Amino acid sequence: FASSASMASIEKIVVIGAGLMGSGIVQVAAQANYKVVMVDQSADALKKGEGIIRGSLKRIAKKKFPDSTSEQDKFIEGVCANYSTSSDAIESLKDTDLLVEAIVENLEVKRKLFSLLDQNAPAKTIFCSNTSSLPISHIASSTKRLERFAGLHFFNPVPQMKLVEVISTDDTSKKVLKDLFDFSKKIGKSPIACKDTPGFIVNRLLVPYMLEALRLYERGDATLQDIDTGMKLGAGYPMGPFELMDYVGLDTLKFITEQWYSSNPHLKGESLVIPSPSIEKLVSQGHLGRKSGKGFYDYSK
Ligand code: NAI
Repeated sequence: FASSASMASIEKIVVIGAGLMGSGIVQVAAQANYKVVMVDQSADALKKGEGIIRGSLKRIAKKKFPDSTSEQDKFIEGVCANYSTSSDAIESLKDTDLLVEAIVENLEVKRKLFSLLDQNAPAKTIFCSNTSSLPISHIASSTKRLERFAGLHFFNPVPQMKLVEVISTDDTSKKVLKDLFDFSKKIGKSPIACKDTPGFIVNRLLVPYMLEALRLYERGDATLQDIDTGMKLGAGYPMGPFELMDYVGLDTLKFITEQWYSSNPHLKGESLVIPSPSIEKLVSQGHLGRKSGKGFYDYSK
């Protein structure tokens, strides 16, 4: 007799956190006909998440059905019928196959949530975190389901970005990784596998690249405009490093580098990840990039 845990494939999903990333994950799963519950702490946060989903679906519907508003509405309502909202994480976890956490990037807050959920979720539920900068094993150790714990790292904006990084700790089971790969493909993404290491694959390469662009600029070797032009026209990148940093958010970049430093002592002194004075200065002035209207470039006009 196979246990229910090993038989289960992913059907019902709970996403905790209805912010930028959580709402996107809910949307792509609902678009692929999964039954999803979107959980957040307050009705206001849930309403905000629903607004993000409807806005994004509207844009997709207009492209898909440019000549028919009734087809657009049908598409939007069809997707929205696949998800519900709740402010009760424990209640929503009944029968859930996959839980994806996308709450605030804070280790203690995540550990507290997962520890509580672990005591109340069915044994079969796979737990995933969408964290960008925290070690998955440090979050997983707040639970007793180490074999059924992994990272599922989406990219912003979730509906457009094709990639999902599937992160395994030393304890994550092969079956769980396979289920997560299958799930990622079913929602139209391309999964890639990586061990639980700082920045996983994409940020591990991107962050030192952005920081090295900063050093070039901070030394006065080139202007930031020329560095951006160089990487766009010479390397074929869609954005230059400074445009990318403004897009990611300078506070986020600062936070990620600090996290790497504090949670990975072996990275201390690695010149590629030493925090940058120009980022510190802009963040302290409230210039966080696109989202605040100004970063390296001015977006206010
Ligand atoms: P956000 O700030 O837009 O959303 C976070 C949401 O979580 C908020 O709605 C908040 O009310 C809710 N929340 C906080 N604590 C909660 C709790 N205990 N229970 C339930 N809900 C709670 O944040 P964002 O940008 O969506 O990031 C979420 C996670 O995704 C973070 O771990 C971040 O590192 C990761 N991530 C972010 C990316 C980005 O580009 N913003 C990219 C990939 C991963």
